[in-house]
Amino acid sequence: MRPTVAPFFHQPTGTWTYVVSDPASRDAAVIDPVLDYDWRSGRTGTASADTVLGHIAAEGLTLRWILETHAHADHLSSAAYLQSRAGGRIAIGAGIREVQASFKRIFGLGEEFVPDGRQFDRLLANGDTIELGGIHGGVIATPGHTSDSVSYLFGDALFVGDTVFMPDGGSARCDFPGGDAAELYRSVQHLYALPGATRVFVCHDYAPGGRAPSCESTIEAQRTSNVHLKADTSESDYVALRRARDATLDVPNLIIPSVQVNIRAGHLPPPESDGVRYLKVPLDVIGRPLSSPIP
Ligand SMILES: [Fe+2]
Repeated sequence: MRPTVAPFFHQPTGTWTYVVSDPASRDAAVIDPVLDYDWRSGRTGTASADTVLGHIAAEGLTLRWILETHAHADHLSSAAYLQSRAGGRIAIGAGIREVQASFKRIFGLGEEFVPDGRQFDRLLANGDTIELGGIHGGVIATPGHTSDSVSYLFGDALFVGDTVFMPDGGSARCDFPGGDAAELYRSVQHLYALPGATRVFVCHDYAPGGRAPSCESTIEAQRTSNVHLKADTSESDYVALRRARDATLDVPNLIIPSVQVNIRAGHLPPPESDGVRYLKVPLDVIGRPLSSPIP
């Protein structure tokens, strides 16, 4: 069965959100939805998520799943908002517990935040399945960028999150807490073992060279032309390239607000006694380098 895939591009963060659906039953999943966020004012917005909801309504789809490929560090998730409007269950890789524990320490979160994945409706492990009407969905653990990273394979459509980007964009950084370039290399080998015609949908595109943003390639295109990691690239060559590149990268613009919301499945932190919700900014902790242990 070939699922229908509708992509939505979030220009401010270069993020692709997907609605994947079974044309027969109209059951649908949303993958990596975005909550708008203005860092200047601290104001959140739902315009992007509402566009996705509009598509779901217009197509007569039933939202069964809201799937995260990982806890993103570059955009806030609108998973909780989508669920409040359209239902569905929120799922993420089981490695989220490690990510939650790391960031609970980094952000000094209190007892209220329990890092056991309870904020999500389902935690997914390698080999788990998700049915979407008549379309079989498979979960492939793809750690390396983060320890909770998973890819989703619905029919012939593979959603790779931040493992590889479009072939001219290479691969994702591996210097977050829990990231590991050798692990990402091995994860990508599992993806490259899939049939060459498998459609590959990426979570980000930064449109290198000024081309238009793009979201879809194939396993064969990745194997033959990914600029960081081709089928014949050795693990040691990849790890050396990845580490050298990671050493040059800035801290993501929205890592501080994103992570605090995304480890809560897209819920904002609970309001304080004045009724206002606050995010925290840990001073002199993040980015020295990103992967170094917290004192
Ligand atoms: Fe990411």
